[in-house]
Amino acid sequence: MTAAQNKMSSFWMPFTPNRDFHDDPRMIVGADGMYYTSADGRQIMDATAGLWCVNAGHNDPLIVEAVQKQVATLDYAPHFNFGTPQSFELASKLASMFPDPLNHVFFTGSGSESVDTALKIALHYHRMRGDGARTRLIGRERGYHGVGFGGISVGGIVNNRKHFGGLLTGVDHLPHTHNLEKNAFTKGCPEHGAELAEDLVRIAELHDPSTIAAVIVEPMAGSTGVLMPPVGYLKRLREICDQYGILLIFDEVITAYGRLGKASAAEYFGVTPDLITTAKGLTNGVVPMGAVIIDEKIYNSAMDNTGTPIELFHGYTYSGHPLATAAALATLKSYEDNDMFARATAMAPKWEDGVHSLKGLPHVKDIRNLGLVGAIELESRAGAVGARGMEAMKAAWAEGVMIRVTGDIIALSPPLIISEEEIQTLFGKLAGVLKNIA
Ligand SMILES: Cc1ncc(COP(=O)(O)O)c(C=O)c1O
Repeated sequence: MTAAQNKMSSFWMPFTPNRDFHDDPRMIVGADGMYYTSADGRQIMDATAGLWCVNAGHNDPLIVEAVQKQVATLDYAPHFNFGTPQSFELASKLASMFPDPLNHVFFTGSGSESVDTALKIALHYHRMRGDGARTRLIGRERGYHGVGFGGISVGGIVNNRKHFGGLLTGVDHLPHTHNLEKNAFTKGCPEHGAELAEDLVRIAELHDPSTIAAVIVEPMAGSTGVLMPPVGYLKRLREICDQYGILLIFDEVITAYGRLGKASAAEYFGVTPDLITTAKGLTNGVVPMGAVIIDEKIYNSAMDNTGTPIELFHGYTYSGHPLATAAALATLKSYEDNDMFARATAMAPKWEDGVHSLKGLPHVKDIRNLGLVGAIELESRAGAVGARGMEAMKAAWAEGVMIRVTGDIIALSPPLIISEEEIQTLFGKLAGVLKNIA
């Protein structure tokens, strides 16, 4: 390959139209606070917290310093048979942040790994209890649980599944909860749709409840284009899971660490699952890390019943990585010192006003919001789903704003440090973008 050919195609970019990007690259060379610096020297407002991860804003001095110090002190240590004091400290801290009785933590390197870990721990739990026939996993249409084979099997985004063979067996899916006929332009959680949780009864009866290990859902679905749970839906899922002895997993890779103004969506909605998967905001995106938060009874079942010295044959080279651990401890301190979750709650009404101010603009068929999350769903062009969304993303970049699009849905999730003035600027610019795209 020549140097010229090598230039951009060497990097096969994730979830990106690679060839299109080569023609029109959007290169980033720096970041601070709410802004990126583009290669052409412009300040670009980060309306997506990177990929839902930079909740404390970019270049937080506390996190930068902690990582710098850590890399010079202990760069790497394995956590198979060895430990670092900080990883135990972080696990205790996380255990105290999530609802009781979720008091144990398994570290991973990403959201996808957290999902695979949670699914495996759910299966392991039932076997440890002598209930090994419970092997089925239930996900939901339009669910996103990362890109591992476990995650795409229980996930419900068709393009992420259809090219990759037979996937895990024994998986079924709940219906998604998106219903624009009834819920368009809802502020907060939609009124209609709690009854969709009843489908879990149908699925349980269809397969025999004693074969079902776990249900996994995002309490607020993100990557599919932001779907808020209907009022009462999550509570009903919890009840049905309890009725049938099924574990409930909340995939909180984007909702944990303040996105809804609380440490977790579980806390926000007042519904406690058995396992919570997290990543992203755990380290502010600075060093890759995930964590699965685990119910007491699940941890104890492994400790008490395994019959081998190692209680769980699972783990990653980077579980508890020292740099990630240092980044996470500093990130949690930054959230705490700056009262960032309360700040997100206080800013949410202004955010809601801002996002709903786009109602009535061309092609806008729905707007939704919760916490510091917003979505603007655009009409798709005939025969070209996603084209209008892509054009909006490019136009916003030209206007100095980074947005995320899923098909024709714009998803917004700024760092929690966004100010009222920045909210106004953001929606002013987005209004201009929407008026100008065809
Ligand atoms: C709900 C959810 N689960 C899992 C993942 C996967 O995380 P990662 O990309 O770190 O593997 C994501 C990523 O966006 C997510 O939103």
